[in-house]
Amino acid sequence: MNEEIRVGIVGTQFMGRAHTKAYQDILNFLDLPVKPVLRAACDINQSDLDSFAKRFGWQTTETSWEKMVARDDIDLIDICTPNVIHMPIAVAAAGAGKHILCEKPVAMTADEAQRMLNAARQADVRNMVAFNYRRVPALALARQLIEQGKIGRVFHFNAVYYQDWLVDPDFPFVWRHDIKKGGSGAHGDMNAHTVDLARFLVGEIKTVCAAEEIFIKERRQSGGKGTGTVTADDAMYFLARFSDGALGSFMATRFATGRKNFLRLEIFGSEGSLLFNLERLNELQFYSKSDAATEQGFQNILVTESDHPYVKNWWPPGHIIGWEHTFIHEISDLLLAIAKKEPVYPDFYDGLRCQQVLDAVCESAKEERWVDIPKK
Ligand SMILES: NC(=O)c1ccc[n+]([C@@H]2O[C@H](COP(=O)([O-])OP(=O)(O)OC[C@H]3O[C@@H](n4cnc5c(N)ncnc54)[C@H](O)[C@@H]3O)[C@@H](O)[C@H]2O)c1
Repeated sequence: MNEEIRVGIVGTQFMGRAHTKAYQDILNFLDLPVKPVLRAACDINQSDLDSFAKRFGWQTTETSWEKMVARDDIDLIDICTPNVIHMPIAVAAAGAGKHILCEKPVAMTADEAQRMLNAARQADVRNMVAFNYRRVPALALARQLIEQGKIGRVFHFNAVYYQDWLVDPDFPFVWRHDIKKGGSGAHGDMNAHTVDLARFLVGEIKTVCAAEEIFIKERRQSGGKGTGTVTADDAMYFLARFSDGALGSFMATRFATGRKNFLRLEIFGSEGSLLFNLERLNELQFYSKSDAATEQGFQNILVTESDHPYVKNWWPPGHIIGWEHTFIHEISDLLLAIAKKEPVYPDFYDGLRCQQVLDAVCESAKEERWVDIPKK
């Protein structure tokens, strides 16, 4: 019988469901030395909580995260709430000796992220930030190719992340519009992913220069009473210089009409290039200067071979996987790290480094100047 890791999840909507599905599928597809148990689900919304717990098989419920974190029958706290309470939950969880999985962006500010990192290190608990795109097989393969020198020295990292759900002026005011609950808007939500991928694939960012916009400044409250003032960015663009001399560009917007969740990366190097499009999640485009001159061109690698990263537990070659599998890869790596008492990445240090870039971008947009990222 495998050792049990008893999970307590906070937040039961979008990410709460995505993570829950991962815990369930892990048991069916992966051989791990440990077994996740859906011990407790927590949300402030009692009726949604009850139906969530019943539907997905969570054994117990709590409406107070403080109570849940204090329970002695939980080993891992999984934070799927709005960003404003990531830090207090994580610090309390570490203080109670629990391992922690925290959704991105890890915190509201770098100061908060530093507190989380300190607490996790002091408690010596496993800690992970849910930058799930690192575990798209095609992007894990991209990192392998870069590490093997296949594209040589990287000159450019360009990332666009487009959504369009706010183009509708009638879309109501939600926590994501409130800088006090989200820390930022499209930026913390979407650029958090691409900044983490930039660090994963290319390296540290040294300095940034940004521009932001809020296109619709008032939105109706969903309850029907009055409006809410939008304080979080609808779009944030920035330029970056990496420590090793590469140049980067990042665009995040929720006003890209027609684009639902369009994430594209372009990485150009001295020996080759890599292109990735989340809508073609199983594919990686690779151009190599070492191909014969008459045969050069972008090749489309279908990343479904069993020796591609993360693929061996899934289907025969050519049978594609999807977005939800990234959470299975992420959570299974975390469970394995807990079992082996080993570090797992991206951890709270990665969350902090990402947050330092995000904060510098916000400062740059406000002050309309280049802003340096702290060195450590
Ligand atoms: N990794 C990804 O691709 C990805 C995608 C979407 C969101 N996220 C991140 O996941 C987190 C949650 O986002 P979401 O889209 O699931 O939000 P959501 O609004 O769909 O769900 C948040 C849930 O948290 C609950 N909640 C709020 N305050 C609470 C409290 N004090 N105690 C307990 N529960 C509370 C809400 O009732 C709600 O059920 C955010 O940090 C977001 O940035 C990550």
